[in-house]
Amino acid sequence: MPTVTAQGQTVSCAVGSNLRQILLQHGIPVHNGNATLINCRGLGTCGTCAVQVSGAVSEANWRDRARRSLPPHNPEQGRRLACQTRVLGDVTVKKFDGFWGQGEEQLW
Ligand code: FES
Repeated sequence: MPTVTAQGQTVSCAVGSNLRQILLQHGIPVHNGNATLINCRGLGTCGTCAVQVSGAVSEANWRDRARRSLPPHNPEQGRRLACQTRVLGDVTVKKFDGFWGQGEEQLW
């Protein structure tokens, strides 16, 4: 089973698991501040679940690419929308500051 390492925790999940759901199921705050309440619940439209992922994950789908092409996101940052990302192997996740997780300061 793949592992997801984030915020000092390492958890296991099934291949193909939705990264946002795995993080939330383990109490790992994929949204910052008020975005915890004000988000699209995984539809891929709000952009607040942006994270930096290293490891084996699905290719970015059109929703992920489209939302991250709009400010305040910058596609050059290489972030991913957790709600549109499937875990395919062991991954490490980092979260950055800002309402959308678009900042440069790593939170965890
Ligand atoms: S939760 Fe809104 S884009 Fe992921």
